[in-house]
Amino acid sequence: LFLKAFNEEHVIPDWTRFVSDMQIFFDQAAKDTSGQNAQYIPVLRDANPDLWGISFCSVDGQRWSVGDASVKFSLQSVCKPVTYAIGLATEGTDFMEQWIDVEPAGRPFNTQDLDPATQRPFNASLNSGAIMAAGVVASGFPPATEWKEIVDHVRAKWQELCGQEDVGFSMETFESEKATAYNNFAIAYNLKGRRGLPRDVDLHKMLDVYLGCCSIEITAEALSVVAATLANGGICPITGKEVFPALVVRTVLAETMTCGLYDQAGHFAVEVGLPAKSGVSGAILVMAPGVFGFCTFSPRLNAKGNSVRGIDFCKRLVNCYRLHIF
Ligand code: DON
Repeated sequence: LFLKAFNEEHVIPDWTRFVSDMQIFFDQAAKDTSGQNAQYIPVLRDANPDLWGISFCSVDGQRWSVGDASVKFSLQSVCKPVTYAIGLATEGTDFMEQWIDVEPAGRPFNTQDLDPATQRPFNASLNSGAIMAAGVVASGFPPATEWKEIVDHVRAKWQELCGQEDVGFSMETFESEKATAYNNFAIAYNLKGRRGLPRDVDLHKMLDVYLGCCSIEITAEALSVVAATLANGGICPITGKEVFPALVVRTVLAETMTCGLYDQAGHFAVEVGLPAKSGVSGAILVMAPGVFGFCTFSPRLNAKGNSVRGIDFCKRLVNCYRLHIF
C-alpha cells in the first residue's frame, strides 16, 4: 500500500481531491430534510432524523468517512444481499434458483406477490425472497440449531466482509420487529403454503433468522468496507481474504443492480447506474465495481423506503464522476 501511494498507483490516485469533492456533495445533500424515519418500530421511529454520515473504502483500501459514520444502526434490508450470497456460496446457484428467482418485480419491498407461474419470490431483495434466503441458510443447519446460532454464523460473515470484529446485534430491534411482523408472518405462511420450504425448514425459525439478520448492528464506516469487498470481487481490501467467490459476488451485484431498490430500482439504475442495497434504518450500500464501495446513512426515507439524502448524494456523485456503469 505504501509503495502504491508513493507511486500514485492507487485506483483513485488523488484521494485528497476526491474526498474534498465528496465533502461538497455531503454538505449539499445535508440540506435535504424531506422524507421521514420508518415508523413501524420505536427504535427506528425515535432515531435522530438528522443523523447523516458517509463512508468510502476503495478496492485498494483507501478510506474516508464524514459525519455520523460511526453511529450504529440495524442493517434491516441491507442484510439481504449477504444472506443471499451465503445461500449461493453454500448451496450453489441451481439450488437457490429453485427457491428464489432473479427477476426485478417493480413491486414494494413488502409485497405478498409471488411469481404466479412458479410460486417463487421474484428476487432476494424483496422481503419474500430474503425470508426464503434465510430459510435456505437455516435449512443447511441441523434441525435442532437455534435461530440465534444461525444469525451468529451470518454475523461472522459480516465481520469477515468488513474486516473487523465490530458487528453487533440488537435484541431490542429483534423483539420489536417480531412483535410487529404480521406482514412478514403472512409472507412466510404464503411461502410455506404455496411452494413449500427448502428441506422443510421450520417456518418460525426461518422468520427468526430473517428478522435476526435485519437486527444485526453496524456502522457506515464498517459497511463501506463490506461494499468495497463486494466491489472487489469478494476479496476484503483490508484483510486480503476472499469472503465470497467472485461468481457469487457477480450474481449478487447483478441482482442488487436490478432489484436492490425495489420499485425504485429502475430509476436508480438510470440515474445512478450502480448496484445498491437500501434498508429502512436509512443506509444505502453502493458498489462501484473495481473502484470503491461506500455507505450512506440518513434515516429519513422516501415513499419507497429508500434514504432521501443517500439517493441525493449518489446522484451528485455520478453527475460529477463517470461512475455510471453505462
Ligand atoms: O422486514 C422488514 O420489513 C424490515 N425489517 C426491513 C425492511 C427494509 O429494510 C426495507 N427496505 N427499505
